[in-house]
Amino acid sequence: MAGGTLIVGASQAGLQLAASLRQFGDNRPITLVGEEIHPPYQRPPLSKEFLSGESDAESLALRAASYYADAGIDLVSGRRVTEVTLASSGRPGSGVARTADGRSFPFDRLALTVGAAPRRLSVPGADLDGISCLRDRDDAADLRGRLESSARVVVVGGGFIGLEVAAAARALGKEVTVVEAAERLISRAVAPVVSEFYRQAHLRRGTRVLLSAAVAGFEGADGRVTAVRLADGAVLPADLVVVGVGVVPRTELAEQLGLACDRGIVVDAHARTSNPHIRAAGDCTVQPHPVTGVGTVRLESVQNAVAQATAAAASLLGRPVGAAPVPWFWSYQGDLKLQIAGLSTGYDEYVVRGEPDSERFSVLYYRQGELLAIDAVNSPAEYMAVRRALMDGASVPPSLAGDPGTPLKSLLAARRRPAVPSP
Ligand code: NAI
Repeated sequence: MAGGTLIVGASQAGLQLAASLRQFGDNRPITLVGEEIHPPYQRPPLSKEFLSGESDAESLALRAASYYADAGIDLVSGRRVTEVTLASSGRPGSGVARTADGRSFPFDRLALTVGAAPRRLSVPGADLDGISCLRDRDDAADLRGRLESSARVVVVGGGFIGLEVAAAARALGKEVTVVEAAERLISRAVAPVVSEFYRQAHLRRGTRVLLSAAVAGFEGADGRVTAVRLADGAVLPADLVVVGVGVVPRTELAEQLGLACDRGIVVDAHARTSNPHIRAAGDCTVQPHPVTGVGTVRLESVQNAVAQATAAAASLLGRPVGAAPVPWFWSYQGDLKLQIAGLSTGYDEYVVRGEPDSERFSVLYYRQGELLAIDAVNSPAEYMAVRRALMDGASVPPSLAGDPGTPLKSLLAARRRPAVPSP
């Protein structure tokens, strides 16, 4: 193949980029290279239905096996790109990529959709057998098997992965302890009132939650983990430890190419890297805040992977790129369904609707009186109303938002009605 588009990283963003190029009428060769042996699949169920055994591996596939040949996308699975060089002459942005096993992929256009790797703990005993993380399908399949034969599970990290795994393990009847370093759960994403709700809800379901707890090391016997040792001297017996302490974006190839990186590959709203010929999308990127435009954010979500990859495909083809979509995200922890629309980063006020103890409430976030985001727990109608409002540029005053007796939908509609009726 002489050139065409090379997409490195065959997950949600990589596949979307390839699919969008085809959808936009690009008929040049497309090669999608991925390190994993599995064709692109959905990650969200890995820490939910797949882990608890309610869904199988086949149901994870993002496309039917026949899709790739039908769409003319050359999917190369099980190969890791380790080196990329740009040509010093010829078409700007063209070059060649090489894989660890010595294959070469020349390209005219390059996109990096390489994702992020789970952050590891560097404490004594971290390499013992029985200490797992959850990022890809093989991790999840391995964890599923290990869960069956484990009675005591310690989850390190009370973020999204940690709490979803804790819920799945508890539902399987395991004794579960969550060890969180920060003062509250999911602190990166939600307000203290939501963190406290999750702490209590997990406690009610029988999970032990330790906050402000530092892991000092792991103890083992015969190479297998037997306990987690905390900095305060406490020892938590464990047959299985799951570590979910965040991710590190994969920037190695971008750095080789001299692209700007700052906690991720820096891209603009069109998914262009600091080299305007190269695109990047998904968990590996940092981008301008899509709602306020103030500062940069890394959005680790399916919605963002799809939106950025679509923008990357459009901008590669010189097509107009739509306005930044409203971000959304979900985390299902057993029967607790958290849905988030918008981005609460930078909020200066929030309003709670409903009673957290009822396990059905929402939190609306504001900055200078403008609606930024909602966290909705078991409240899909409220989530949808705010998502719609953010898409339409509508708002609801914080002074009215706290009354759960008045549906949000009607408040939002009221706001959009003209103050003076037209004649
Ligand atoms: P995270 O950043 O959401 O949470 C990591 C948690 O670990 C934080 O609460 C942090 O304070 C804690 N932590 C950090 N170092 C620690 C230490 N040494 N000891 C104890 N706690 C420590 O990252 P997480 O949960 O690992 O998730 C990874 C990625 O997967 C994220 O991108 C997340 O958004 C994504 N994800 C998405 C889901 C969804 O779509 N619903 C579900 C699960 C994960």
